[in-house]
Amino acid sequence: MGKMDGKVALITGGARGQGRAHALRLAAEGADIIVTDICEQIEGVHYALGTEAELAETVALVEKLGRRCLGYRADARDADRMREVADQAIGELGRLDTVVINHGIGLPHGIDERGLKVWDTVIETNLSAVWRTAVVTVPHLRESGGGSIIATGSAASLVPIFGNEAYTVAKHGLIGLVKCLAADLARDWIRVNAVCPTNVDTPLFVNEYNIGRFLPGQPDATVEDLRQMAETLNLLPVPWIEPEAVSHAVLYLASDDAKYVTGVALPVDAGMTIQPPGITPLIGGRMAELRQRP
Ligand SMILES: NC(=O)c1ccc[n+]([C@@H]2O[C@H](COP(=O)([O-])OP(=O)(O)OC[C@H]3O[C@@H](n4cnc5c(N)ncnc54)[C@H](O)[C@@H]3O)[C@@H](O)[C@H]2O)c1
Repeated sequence: MGKMDGKVALITGGARGQGRAHALRLAAEGADIIVTDICEQIEGVHYALGTEAELAETVALVEKLGRRCLGYRADARDADRMREVADQAIGELGRLDTVVINHGIGLPHGIDERGLKVWDTVIETNLSAVWRTAVVTVPHLRESGGGSIIATGSAASLVPIFGNEAYTVAKHGLIGLVKCLAADLARDWIRVNAVCPTNVDTPLFVNEYNIGRFLPGQPDATVEDLRQMAETLNLLPVPWIEPEAVSHAVLYLASDDAKYVTGVALPVDAGMTIQPPGITPLIGGRMAELRQRP
């Protein structure tokens, strides 16, 4: 018997990365899946976002597990499109129990002209679209007699991240939103929580732009160099975690194991955020050097 038998879960940003891992984990536990992704570039984002082919692959992988899966190209910022998708998919699959609001972009910037430009894009995508997805799916959760919303925060929900004001504000705001929704929806037996991962092995973090950003002045730096730097950010000796590690937390929060858990921001962060707030991300690659001091 699976922990999600008879349930239906909707996951945003599921073409690949953590969203795909969550889809497969929840499906392996018996859930039918609705998966959405923007499947096109957002202006200013310096790495490739998910594609239609990747979305189709997520659907195929879920179906291989013997579960039903419906995939939709949908920008989570667009409430009308998200409402249309939810209504159509839930019409077909019959109910909705879990909403994993996972989509997001990493768009670092400085305190500069570029920062002025990208601020709205990051806040719209990583915060406002979380609100909109929740608003259009809550009526379906109510119809099912309750459910679970899980929003993907970040270590940046809990500590500030250097060169990432917009991302930090969006992810901090997401926790405020989760707590308000948890309070407002508790009477409907809708639980609302967040997972807060450290860096994860997906294109959002492991990309050429971040190699340059974290290793300035090293034009020949490679992913291996990024790996070594990233390991200094976590307490546990890992540079980043695998998407499936976050899926365990998502499954817990989605299932009855977390029946009385609501309003929490659950770190899956290899200890990153219990280091002095703000210090680790600020000093970044200098952590290893500082640790060697008496
Ligand atoms: N990778 C990391 O280091 C890391 C760390 C902490 C938190 N996160 C968060 O985890 C979540 C998942 O990211 P990931 O690591 O799997 O990265 P990813 O880039 O592999 O996956 C994110 C997916 O979201 C989709 N997406 C982006 N904007 C969208 C929109 N407006 N509507 C619909 N889909 C959209 C992308 O196309 C992509 O397929 C994000 O919220 C991210 O902020 C990532």
